[in-house]
Amino acid sequence: MGTRPRVLLTEPVFPEVAYLLHQHVELDVGERGVYNTEAALKAVFGQYDGVLSMLSNPITQAVLETAPRLKVIANHAVGYNNIDIDACKSRSIRVANTPGVLTDATADGTLALLLALVRRIPEAQQHLRDGNFDGWHPTGFLGLELRGQVLGIIGMGRIGTAVAERCRAFGMQIIYHNRKRASAPAEARLQATYIKNVHELAQQSDIITLHCPLSDATHHLVDTAFLSVMKESAYLINATRGPVVDEAALAAALHAHQIAGAGIDVYEQEPAIHASLLDAPNTVLTPHITSATHHTRRQMGMLAAAAILNELCGMDLKCNFVV
Ligand code: DGY
Repeated sequence: MGTRPRVLLTEPVFPEVAYLLHQHVELDVGERGVYNTEAALKAVFGQYDGVLSMLSNPITQAVLETAPRLKVIANHAVGYNNIDIDACKSRSIRVANTPGVLTDATADGTLALLLALVRRIPEAQQHLRDGNFDGWHPTGFLGLELRGQVLGIIGMGRIGTAVAERCRAFGMQIIYHNRKRASAPAEARLQATYIKNVHELAQQSDIITLHCPLSDATHHLVDTAFLSVMKESAYLINATRGPVVDEAALAAALHAHQIAGAGIDVYEQEPAIHASLLDAPNTVLTPHITSATHHTRRQMGMLAAAAILNELCGMDLKCNFVV
């Protein structure tokens, strides 16, 4: 027992994930949110061979410096911008993420946000709950019909593509921007048009949805300049990472009715939300839930656990390493 590797699961996940790990490693499970600061991670990281981390855990160079025996970090997310990848590489620490298993849930969640926004569902529900429903009216809660609208997708990876497939079924026209242009058959299948310049995409779109990873190149990609070229009738959806959007600039654009509205699931400083976004008009805000289905979150945990077991216990389970 003493020779089993020690692993930290930074917060509770599905019980079967913890059970699987328990069978092979010495497992410590943190309480929810306890490891969301560098200081908390630094205090314990030195004890572990492996960590199953959450996207809210800032695994910085300073944290890694305290962890001489650490061999593997498995992030319970497809995004891994919370981890200093270069610092992991230089210490030969492997890093895994959970791509693929959350594609459908995230695309479904994006559509839920989009439809809630353009059909004004939360606002209409509030009206009813407040006791104001006085019968059907021909002009009550009018919204946008999707057929024929131009959807601008920024980031045409797995999730962006899954969103495009769903939106084609709604009769939308797809334009997209991506680091790398999709293959001709993929473009033909989705009837999607590549736009090299993101500002051009912003000018042409009726709805813009963000699915690119957060990187130096995409930080504040949606800023004042981007928002100023969007149509006044256009909507923005962000279900990727908060810092892809300059939240203050977005809030200002919404308050000035410079764009029609925004559906936002992710924030620059989670869990904090820019105060003027909270009371911005025509805005649907959700708490980072687009991948939140029972099936997907269980699969994400299992995939992350598999990476830990492969690296520390010599198993050969399906998983995905980025480093
Ligand atoms: C991820 O996996 O990166 C999402 O943001 C959470 O589901």
